[in-house]
Amino acid sequence: MSETAGGMGTVREAGTVCSAARISVRNLTLRYGSASKPTLDQVNLDVDSGQMVALIGANGAGKSSLLRSMVRLVEPTAGTVSIGEHDVTNAGRTKLRAIRRDVGFVFQHFNLVTRLTAFDNVLQGGIAKQSRRCVVPAFAPGEARRRAMEYLDRAGLAEFAQRRVDTLSGGQQQRVAIARVLMQEPKVILADEPVASLDPVSGEAVMGLLHSVAAERGITVVAALHHIDLAVRYTERIVGLRGGRVSLDIASRDCVVDELSVIYSNDPASPALAMAPML
Ligand SMILES: Nc1ncnc2c1ncn2[C@@H]1O[C@H](COP(=O)(O)OP(=O)(O)O)[C@@H](O)[C@H]1O
Ligand SMILES: [Mg+2]
Repeated sequence: MSETAGGMGTVREAGTVCSAARISVRNLTLRYGSASKPTLDQVNLDVDSGQMVALIGANGAGKSSLLRSMVRLVEPTAGTVSIGEHDVTNAGRTKLRAIRRDVGFVFQHFNLVTRLTAFDNVLQGGIAKQSRRCVVPAFAPGEARRRAMEYLDRAGLAEFAQRRVDTLSGGQQQRVAIARVLMQEPKVILADEPVASLDPVSGEAVMGLLHSVAAERGITVVAALHHIDLAVRYTERIVGLRGGRVSLDIASRDCVVDELSVIYSNDPASPALAMAPML
């Protein structure tokens, strides 16, 4: 079974082009419970519409916390986040739900419904934008079914549409997860270690897919990555977190790998293990 995103170059342009969204993070601070030190310590970050950014840092640096704070999957202690024209941090429940519909989240472990087919998983990605009838895949409108097939095709997985996702490889499951997120027609994709569970070839296919769909549709992407080589090749900007602060912010093309070691060196503010970049 091919792990490359075969067919990606030959498939149709899928769906409508989404308008992009700028992300603006201001003095974002997050303190879990009664922890003595904040996990995020006045983080400032601006990501332009359509920009693809790699978020790097040692384990425990706060990458997941930052991504989750951006849509208040964890509640920040202080500071603000805006996505497009929306103030995320001050949004009420209804507004927050609307904002989250524009933000696709891709997780390390795919978060698919394992007993469903690839097609039905993708179809369910559009639930938030459709009527309640979509909850039962068999009752989904024809238009939603057409789009789901189009996104699967875009991910190079049309031939696996009717396979239960738990029979697919990790790389294929992650591509299903990306197709699922595309059903949302997101303006932003936040990806938390999307290739950490994958072999190198599958990781390339997933990053290639993310990069190309983001470029086609002008989607803003922030992806936490441990693989510096993938960050350099597939993103345009690398932001490093250390001890809950932004300690590096460079164009990927200017990346000098040796200089990244500071990001992974032992950090008195974050005693979690130092992790060497994988090259
Ligand atoms: N739900 C939580 N409750 C308490 N502490 C947490 C929670 N999630 C993460 N942390 C702590 O916050 C720090 C940053 O974690 P995380 O954001 O997962 O970092 P990364 O994704 O860079 O590995 C770690 O010290 C971690 O133990
Ligand atoms: Mg993490």
